[in-house]
Amino acid sequence: MEPVNIGLLGLGTVGGGTVTVLSRNGEEIARRAGRGIRISHAAARAYDPDRIEGLGDIGRIGDDAFAVVDDPDVDIVVELIGGYSPARELVLRAIANGKHLVTANKALIALHGNEIFAAAQERGVMVAFEAAVAGGIPIIKAVREGLAANHIEWIAGIINGTGNFILTEMRDKGRDFADVLVEAQALGYAEADPTFDVEGIDAAHKLTILGSLAFGIPLQFDKTFTEGISRIEAQDIAFAAELGYRIKHLGIARRVEDGIELRVHPTLIPHRRLIANVDGVMNAVLVKGDAVGPTLYYGAGAGALPTASAVLADVVDVVRALTTDPTNRVPHLAFQPTELASTPVLRMEDVETAYYLRLTALDRPGVMASIAGILGEEGISIEAIQQKEPAAGETHVPLIMLIHRVRESCMNRALARIADLEAVQDGIVRIRMEALAG
Ligand code: HSE
Repeated sequence: MEPVNIGLLGLGTVGGGTVTVLSRNGEEIARRAGRGIRISHAAARAYDPDRIEGLGDIGRIGDDAFAVVDDPDVDIVVELIGGYSPARELVLRAIANGKHLVTANKALIALHGNEIFAAAQERGVMVAFEAAVAGGIPIIKAVREGLAANHIEWIAGIINGTGNFILTEMRDKGRDFADVLVEAQALGYAEADPTFDVEGIDAAHKLTILGSLAFGIPLQFDKTFTEGISRIEAQDIAFAAELGYRIKHLGIARRVEDGIELRVHPTLIPHRRLIANVDGVMNAVLVKGDAVGPTLYYGAGAGALPTASAVLADVVDVVRALTTDPTNRVPHLAFQPTELASTPVLRMEDVETAYYLRLTALDRPGVMASIAGILGEEGISIEAIQQKEPAAGETHVPLIMLIHRVRESCMNRALARIADLEAVQDGIVRIRMEALAG
């Protein structure tokens, strides 16, 4: 049987990795897929030929991505250029041309997935995007297929390798935020625009996708609450450790009575949890299903070969399903398109969670009482308080508090009132806490 022809868009970190893995493992992959797979046509604006093993196996390399999606010999387009545009135009044109699509582009799926899936369904082609979430970890397959019998209760994941790498280096080696970020960029982990990593946007793209797969709702990136790690200070990492917690940047999707929580933010988690010990660039996703209980998926969340592993697994899936009836294929968002629910995504103000607070307050009688009084009036219960020794010559001291679960709107009100106290300095630190108990 003739090999299946891939049209490859992009020869950067992931594109180059995909060429390399296909070149190294092509025979094994063909034994699994039932057909040979070759890259017949690739397009890239710039690439480093000395860095990509197997480049010689590609039929034709040009610089026009639209020529690839219009190439009549291409069966499957693999989009690895990233970003919103021209990726959106390219994949919509590929679909219109009747090509199946594999993409690692989380930004594209999170923002334009609803439109792309509708176009693909109409045209009867497949869209696969395993590499869009958590790099090499087959988390999409696990949630969409492996856990198909469950009510998913919640998902909590470390889904940005760069952010986890930075937090780990800051904690273990006391390194500077900016210095670690430069290293993550050099290693090929960071996004083209690294603010996507450190401000949580990349994790929010991925969480949007996981939330839709878990709960059968349309993709709603604009409703995902997003906070990054750029304001995390070494002292909070140290105080958290003293209290038995680690700070991780988590994406959390949870089904609650009134709707669905979709939120990405730094989070204190008990240091004993397995996921609290996922360090460096590694990713991990904890999924709680009602039947299966908690399950944990761990692996490399970024980098050339791990991400290529997910891209090529999708290619194998698509090749295996080429001859199936389009109505019998695995639905893009795990649930049949006609069965997507309109369950609301909650505003962050309506989410309930526990908190770590750090205030800097005047070391004077009555200050603690006035802070505790405000918390009490707002119905907020304190779990623990620690006051640190004042530094030599200092009039102010750090106060660390752990707060029981409470609605975010109550906490916002209380913090606004506490910030108005003359004895409290500007810059109250608030980090959300999760027990992640199975
Ligand atoms: N910039 C991403 C990360 C790459 O650091 O996890 C994988 O999506």
